[in-house]
Amino acid sequence: AKQENIRNFSIIAHIDHGKSTLADRLLETCGAVAQRQMSDQLLDNMDLERERGITIKARAVRLTYRAQDGEDYELNLIDTPGHVDFNYEVSRSLAACEGAVLVVDSTQGVEAQTLANTYLAMEHDLEILPVFNKIDLPAADPARAKQEVEDIIGLPALDAPEISAKMGINIDAVLEDIVKNVPPPTGDPEAPLKALIFDSQYDSYRGVIVYMRLMEGSVRPGQQVKMMASGAVYQVVECGHLLPLGMEPCERLSAGEVGYFTASIKNVKDTRVGDTVTDAASPTAEALPGYRPVQPMVYCGIYTEDGSKYPDLRDALEKLQLNDASLSFEPESSVALGFGFRCGFLGMLHMEVIQERLEREFDLDLVTTLPSVIYHVYKTDGTMVAVDNPHNYPDPATIERAEEPYVKVNIIAPNEFVGNIMPMCQDRRGEFKDMQYLDTNLVELHYQMPLNEIIYDFFDALKANTKGYASLDYELSGYRPSELVKVDMKLNGEAVDALSFIAHRDKAYPRARRLCEKLKENIPRQLFEIPVQAAIGGRVIARETVKAMRKDVLAKCYGGDITRKKKLLEKQKEGKKKMRSLGTVQIPTEAFLAVLKLD
Ligand code: GTP
Repeated sequence: AKQENIRNFSIIAHIDHGKSTLADRLLETCGAVAQRQMSDQLLDNMDLERERGITIKARAVRLTYRAQDGEDYELNLIDTPGHVDFNYEVSRSLAACEGAVLVVDSTQGVEAQTLANTYLAMEHDLEILPVFNKIDLPAADPARAKQEVEDIIGLPALDAPEISAKMGINIDAVLEDIVKNVPPPTGDPEAPLKALIFDSQYDSYRGVIVYMRLMEGSVRPGQQVKMMASGAVYQVVECGHLLPLGMEPCERLSAGEVGYFTASIKNVKDTRVGDTVTDAASPTAEALPGYRPVQPMVYCGIYTEDGSKYPDLRDALEKLQLNDASLSFEPESSVALGFGFRCGFLGMLHMEVIQERLEREFDLDLVTTLPSVIYHVYKTDGTMVAVDNPHNYPDPATIERAEEPYVKVNIIAPNEFVGNIMPMCQDRRGEFKDMQYLDTNLVELHYQMPLNEIIYDFFDALKANTKGYASLDYELSGYRPSELVKVDMKLNGEAVDALSFIAHRDKAYPRARRLCEKLKENIPRQLFEIPVQAAIGGRVIARETVKAMRKDVLAKCYGGDITRKKKLLEKQKEGKKKMRSLGTVQIPTEAFLAVLKLD
């Protein structure tokens, strides 16, 4: 299509405001998919995503729309992931667009992600078109929601479409709005190729399918292309458009268009989201701005319950990584758990999704260790160690100082919950920055908080304390000095590596106590007494005891044969010694699981 008739846009929204439903409806209205062929929410094409109602991978689709002006338009809808863990991918998807449809649930109004996503869209200079959804519901109050958008975000909204994505009401108004108000792309088709990768997907037959937005120049089969950040060079096998039911090859894609190419690429690592594709022979002068290498924020050890499944776990992780450049892993071993992998994730949701996929798609039973962030430990010899595993924590005697990652936290909630939220944040070492009233009811709070304090259960706790009304958004803000300690858990005097953890000094003690209690509850009694200890360096800070399962040897001797009693007692002691000297305590896997679910 001519550039003037192309519209590249995203749909942004707070979670559950109806983004996917609207996308479906746009597809259907554009006749892209016959209704009976359409499975619900086509853009989210992973089962897991559908079940959890979240969008994990950005995808794109081209629609053709005949507008009221009689012209045919090519509408490229680029889907964005809907969770804080995937903020970078969201930003790259937005960079591929000229406009964004902002879906606001008319029964809810503006929420945290509404704002966060709008700010992101504004950063990319997108034309933002609010639409007010769910007007079929009795609780809908589009007038109030519009006023909120005008007051809080400062976007003109009073004339914006009021729709029901679910019932298919007023969908044409959205399409006309897009055609009239999203600017067409610009960019010289004759210039050297310059295309933004906003997603990629591994296909076992074609290799990686690279999703891109062409900013300048053009691409065709046979062309040698280069990824500017990774340096990888490939010959394009096929290029084309992304249609709802598959890919449609074409001779050439040019500036302004959204499409894909394949080039027998074996690994998504060569096609990083945010990288610039250019012509290998006549490259563009400068890469597109905004590229960031992926950076895992949360790490944990993953092991199989059945140690013999280790090779299966490796295969599974390799397969998942083919399609997920933000998943990192390397082998590690634990005395307690055997062989496994240290895995890095963008956040807790990413971690859960990967764990679930391993269990579900690869049929593995997993044991995972407590998640940890990356600490920076500066040693007296002037070096710095980035510690993602308590196991690698340097000897305290060699440590000069340590730092932990902090995040800028943004919470939006109705003001009646502020009294619940503030103590929660304080309790997690949050440093209060400021609080603003967005309107008479809605409050926005800013905190600086240690990442370590929010990765476990902060989001759930926040929801629980605000009847689900609060929304959370955070981004890494840097490292700050911290009083860290490594806590070793010892069973029967021996350190169990899989249970050790790094924590802030103030948090170490309560956490250690709870872990000891949990272990006591979950370790079955054995023939001997098992001390359960938590220690920092050599100093024990918490202790419990799993009582011995005392075989009542004396019950058999009626009356007074004292020598016989003595003998029996001695024998029993011997037995205990033997068990002790055997060393390791047997901990059933269930006990481990129960203990690791501590937070
Ligand atoms: P994420 O993908 O999780 O970000 O959510 P989303 O914004 O894509 O929301 P989704 O389209 O999955 O819709 C969330 C819920 O709202 C679903 O149960 C939809 O059926 C429902 N929903 C969406 N649009 C409407 C609407 O116009 N009216 C009503 N009544 N329900 C709607």
